[in-house]
Amino acid sequence: MILNIEKLNLEIDGEKLLRDIDFHMEKGEVVGLVGESGSGKTLTTKFILGILPERSIIKYEKFEKNCKIGAVFQNAFISLNPTIKIGSQLKKLYESHYGTSENWKEKVISLLEKVGIKEIEKFLKKYPHETSGGERQRVVIAGALIGEPDLLIADEVTTALDLRTKKEVINLFKEIRKNLGISILFISHDLDSVRDFVDRVSVMYQGRIVEENSCEEIFQHQEHIYVKKLIGLSKTLWTRGDKDVFTS
Ligand SMILES: Nc1ncnc2c1ncn2[C@@H]1O[C@H](COP(=O)(O)OP(=O)(O)O)[C@@H](O)[C@H]1O
Ligand SMILES: [Mg+2]
Repeated sequence: MILNIEKLNLEIDGEKLLRDIDFHMEKGEVVGLVGESGSGKTLTTKFILGILPERSIIKYEKFEKNCKIGAVFQNAFISLNPTIKIGSQLKKLYESHYGTSENWKEKVISLLEKVGIKEIEKFLKKYPHETSGGERQRVVIAGALIGEPDLLIADEVTTALDLRTKKEVINLFKEIRKNLGISILFISHDLDSVRDFVDRVSVMYQGRIVEENSCEEIFQHQEHIYVKKLIGLSKTLWTRGDKDVFTS
């Protein structure tokens, strides 16, 4: 197991925000963490990354992390500095991981190739605002891969994107999975953006993981009423033939 959390509880300012979270991941596994806005997905991510606010009261029975983690958050644009060219930003990131700039360009070019950026030399000289939303998201994903993580956490990376770009980024994650074989924790408020791409889904609701199953199983059978509703909605749209809703 690369990640194992047992009975995680989190309280901030007297509010119980995470309750008895059990969560684990195996090497190479791709897992979707799904749930409506405010259900506790990002707090769970922040716990894993060790970046919860100082005033958090954290309790758990077990927390094992046997992997290097890279993370990507929703708003790719703000995580890039608008006044610095993309090449320089990726070089700096490389230096922060390896303590030297030696071979930075080879590494960065190979990663940008992997995330589907074309005309890379020219691209490195661009400022973030000179690129598209999808390209910026790709740059941020390449940045998260610089330190060669075993686990890539993607928190709502498709949320701020239009449907076409969303589809592109999901396809990109499928490629990353195929080409790099790393574990991926893909977090989304929307079940359908993970449905044809993850091995297993955990559903969060009001600070708890209320259901966990393989992608196939969870669409066949649900225990929790919230998950039933979630799947019910999804099925209605699916049988309406509105497939773009799910794949985009
Ligand atoms: N830094 C914080 N301080 C206090 N409450 C927070 C903080 N971050 C998140 N919360 C609260 O915790 C709950 C879960 O938040 P979050 O994990 O961001 O949800 P999600 O990512 O599933 O949308 C929400 O009710 C949110 O208001
Ligand atoms: Mg969130």
